[in-house]
Amino acid sequence: MAKSASEISRLNAKSTIKSVSKSDSEVVTTSSVLNRPTPIFPEPPHLTTHGDAQIISVVNQKGGVGKTTTTINLGAAFAELGRRVLLIDFDPQHSLSVGLNVSTREIEGSIYDLMMDESTKIDDFLLKTSVPGMDMVPAHENLAGAEGGLVSVIAREKILKRVLDPVRDFYDVILIDCQPSLGLLTVNALTASNWVLVPLECEYFALRGVALLDDIIKKVQVNTNPDLKLLGILPTMFDRKTVHSREVLERISEAFPSKICDTTIARTVRFPETTVAGEPITSYASSSVGAASYRRLARELISIGGVR
Ligand SMILES: Nc1ncnc2c1ncn2[C@@H]1O[C@H](COP(=O)(O)OP(=O)(O)OP(=O)(O)O)[C@@H](O)[C@H]1O
Ligand SMILES: [Mg+2]
Repeated sequence: MAKSASEISRLNAKSTIKSVSKSDSEVVTTSSVLNRPTPIFPEPPHLTTHGDAQIISVVNQKGGVGKTTTTINLGAAFAELGRRVLLIDFDPQHSLSVGLNVSTREIEGSIYDLMMDESTKIDDFLLKTSVPGMDMVPAHENLAGAEGGLVSVIAREKILKRVLDPVRDFYDVILIDCQPSLGLLTVNALTASNWVLVPLECEYFALRGVALLDDIIKKVQVNTNPDLKLLGILPTMFDRKTVHSREVLERISEAFPSKICDTTIARTVRFPETTVAGEPITSYASSSVGAASYRRLARELISIGGVR
């Protein structure tokens, strides 16, 4: 007999509470690197009601810049702050599912089925993760076929929005992990979203391609989602030891003075380790700088109003 979603989620259930976390002082910030005053992002108020989820697409058409790592760890950090979080694996490579220990052999259905079959309900596809308060919808390789399959569908850019609408009232934040392309799936994610978060690797050619991404965002704003806004550009893989990383950060900051996140994510081997472990860094290495960075990023995004 096939496993139900709840049976699978119990397989993955484990506590995330471990040791004391590192303080913000060890997190590399844009302001400290650029010799500016460093803002403090306090712990946000506890939520007494939930719902009206803010939907955030994590997008960059460049591969390997930290989209999936950001989706998992930022989601876990929001959940630690008492927010109800849903992660959508929207990449046929299904790295988010792998990173949360969900095997595509075990799942009964994925985001592909929700997109392609209107009779399916998202409630039947939600899986609990090892993080209390954080659920996910997995992906499968078959998602690669969705772009072709949707070509003749009416309002094909709005399918993911239709899929997510029924659970917006339950969650506080929904994060969509996009694939490294700007095709129809990414347009679906942007059409369903309030916000775009762009992880940008701190390397010389990082800004190449951002103009193209900006173009797509504008097209989506004009055609399918006038409310879409850029939440932030998140510098990732920052290496404190190189002048190069600092120069790239300066250039990102010049290009996006009001949109560059103050929190940066440093390059550390702890992140690849967490993928192998199948859990977020906030539980795998709770006291690491990487965990502190994503916790600070969550508070920063709440303080600028991206999430309640
Ligand atoms: N800050 C970091 N320091 C070191 N390694 C990292 C960091 N962030 C992510 N990684 C590693 O880099 C690789 C790519 O990261 P990730 O999968 O998050 O990128 P992505 O943008 O989602 O890639 P894709 O475009 O293929 O979906 C992974 O092995 C991940 O563990
Ligand atoms: Mg990815």
